Amino acid sequence: MSSLDRVGKSLTEIEEKDWIVLHALERLIFSYEVIPPARIIRVSGLDRAEVEFRLNRLNGMKLIVGKGKGYSLVSAGLDAIALNAFVKRNLASALGKAIGMGKESDVIEVINDLGEEYAIKFYRIGRISFRAVRRKRGYTSTLAGHRWLITNMKAAKKEYDALRRLHPIGISVPEAIARERHAVLMRKVEAPMLSDIEVLDSPKEVLYDILDNIKRAYMVEGIVNSDLSEYNVLYDGERVWIIDWPQYVEKDHPNVSVLLDRDIFNILKFFKKKFKVDCKLESASFYVRGWSEKLEIF
Ligand SMILES: Nc1ncnc2c1ncn2[C@@H]1O[C@H](COP(=O)(O)OP(=O)(O)OP(=O)(O)O)[C@@H](O)[C@H]1O
Ligand SMILES: [Mg+2]
Repeated sequence: MSSLDRVGKSLTEIEEKDWIVLHALERLIFSYEVIPPARIIRVSGLDRAEVEFRLNRLNGMKLIVGKGKGYSLVSAGLDAIALNAFVKRNLASALGKAIGMGKESDVIEVINDLGEEYAIKFYRIGRISFRAVRRKRGYTSTLAGHRWLITNMKAAKKEYDALRRLHPIGISVPEAIARERHAVLMRKVEAPMLSDIEVLDSPKEVLYDILDNIKRAYMVEGIVNSDLSEYNVLYDGERVWIIDWPQYVEKDHPNVSVLLDRDIFNILKFFKKKFKVDCKLESASFYVRGWSEKLEIF
């Protein structure tokens, strides 16, 4: 059972007072890496015995870690809070299958009461370095915990903001419906990653479609993805979908020009190598910036 499945299951077991204590921990992550029980008692408004009982339960469900002197919220605890919030907003009622379990995120299918399918992206930035640090140094104190949860909440917020700006102006990105904590709920796209596609009927058109989306994101909204590659473009046989925007930069960013060219370069390199489609960086770069109307693809 994946960690998200476990969290989904624990939603049915978490009682009202467990939630009160879990939410108290959540409020305190901005001030502590390890939260003293006295603070949890204060913020929750419950008495000591009750809080201790609840902390034990939450510990057993692996939503928090700690003992006696201090407790910390862990990723699964934040997952539970986010999922529960989506459920309360009637945006999700059951977890579906995992779509993408990657380095920096877990993407999972969810179904709402109407049987409609969506995707939720849970941010996991720090997961790898956290493990690496533990392996290398045998301790986790400095990199562990709340700082990463906060980083992940910021990343989700940033991606959500980008999708909410780009979708209404017709850029081909998944429509974001809601954000809770470190999780973004969006429309599910049925399409493989470009990197997994072996044959394209008209690769030139697909390349044009990608460059045209990059251009409009840049010219109309002033946004550059800055992590673009064949791994962040999906293609459903009719149109492309550009995903994964938490690291986007705005037009006034000091490195915007370099990042825009790097995005374009990555895509051109992929099309040249895999589909033998040639387009000069200068031509694509001028086109994306609106300096030239013409895009020469061979
Ligand atoms: N809206 C969506 N609908 C369907 N699948 C999606 C959606 N968003 C993301 N995915 C799938 O999840 C995968 C990971 O998403 P994304 O690229 O946004 O995250 P990531 O942070 O790059 O994760 P990773 O570390 O695995 O690369 C994508 O390759 C895609 O297969
Ligand atoms: Mg990605």
